[in-house]
Amino acid sequence: MLMATFLLFSYCLIVVKNKAYHGELETPGILGGGLDHEGNVAFGRESHVSDDKGQVPICPPVPPDLRGRINVLENVTVEEAESTGVTEGVKQGGFWWPSHCQARWRVAIIVPYRNRASQLGSFLHHMHNFLQRQELNYSIYVIEQEGDDLFNRARLLNVGYSEAQREGPWDCFAFHDIDMLPEDDRHLYHCSPQPRHLAVATSNHKYKLVYDRYFGGACLMTDKQIKAVNGWSNRYWGWGGEDDDMWRRIAFEDMHVWRYPGKLARYKTIKHRPQVLNKNRFEIVSRNTGRYTHDGLNSLNYTVRNITRKLLYTHILANIGSSRKIASSSVRHRKR
Ligand code: BGC
Repeated sequence: MLMATFLLFSYCLIVVKNKAYHGELETPGILGGGLDHEGNVAFGRESHVSDDKGQVPICPPVPPDLRGRINVLENVTVEEAESTGVTEGVKQGGFWWPSHCQARWRVAIIVPYRNRASQLGSFLHHMHNFLQRQELNYSIYVIEQEGDDLFNRARLLNVGYSEAQREGPWDCFAFHDIDMLPEDDRHLYHCSPQPRHLAVATSNHKYKLVYDRYFGGACLMTDKQIKAVNGWSNRYWGWGGEDDDMWRRIAFEDMHVWRYPGKLARYKTIKHRPQVLNKNRFEIVSRNTGRYTHDGLNSLNYTVRNITRKLLYTHILANIGSSRKIASSSVRHRKR
C-alpha cells in the first residue's frame, strides 16, 4: 500500500525544464533519482549517515509515519518548541537522525535570518516534526546577518552552505525561508538528480505558482549541483532577484528544476514585516549571462562572529560585508 502511494507521488513528479510549467506531467520520474528493483535509491552517495552505521537497516524508501496534510501552528515561541516532544533525540545544535534505521539522506536546512524572532519558534517546531517523520539525518542552521545593512539572502545562503559543509558532509541542502512552512509531509526533502524547487504553492500567492521560473521561498540542491553553479550570487542586496539568478545558473549548467505538484508542495507562509525591495534586481539578473563562474562561492567574503549550538538549531552570526550605497535600491513595502 505504502509503495503504491509512493509510486503514485513519484509518477506525479514534475520536471520543469527551464520552460513553462503547466501543472501537467512532463516526465514521469521518481524522487531521489530512481529506485532500483530492490527499492534502493539509485542516485547520490549511499546515505550511511547515522551513528548507528552498519548496525541498523537502511530506512525504508517511504517513511512509514507520514501523515499527509499537517497543521501549521503559528505563534509558537522557541521556548515552547523546546519544551515539546520534538526535542527528544535532537542533539545540541539541532542535529537529528533516526535511531532505528540509517537515514537515506543527510540534509542541512539553511535558513537566512534577521529580526524574525517571532517566526523562529514556529519554524523549529514545525520543521523538526516534519523532518523527523521523513526519517532524514538533518540539522537546522540559522544564519544571521550582522548589522542593519540591506538584507542579502543569497550571501547568507552561501555562508550557511559553506559553514554547514565544514561539519558535513551533507548530501543536500534545503535553502529555506523561515516563513515557509510545508503543509504536507509527503513532500519529501530527499536529494534529487536535479535541483528542486520546493515552495511551489504558497498561501501568500493563493497556492499558485508565482511564475514558471520561480525558484524562491525554499529549494533543495545537492552538494554537486551547488558547486556546479558556484553557489548563489553575492550581488543582491535587498529583497528579490537572487532566486531568479539561481534559476539562470541552473539553466546555464544544463540542469532542470524539478517540482512536486502544488497539492503536495504546499506551504503556509507566516506574515512578517515589510522588507526593503531591490528595485534594481531585474537589471542585475539580466546581466547574469554567465558571470556566475566568478560571482558566488568562489568570491564570497565573510567573517563568522559567533556559532552557538542551541537546543534545536545552530545559530551562526556572520558579517557578510556591505552593500555600499546602492542608489537604485529604494524602500518599498511588500507584504507576504
Ligand atoms: C523577485 C523574486 C521573488 C518573486 C516572487 C520577483 O520579482 O525577483 O526574488 O521570489 O518576485 O515574489
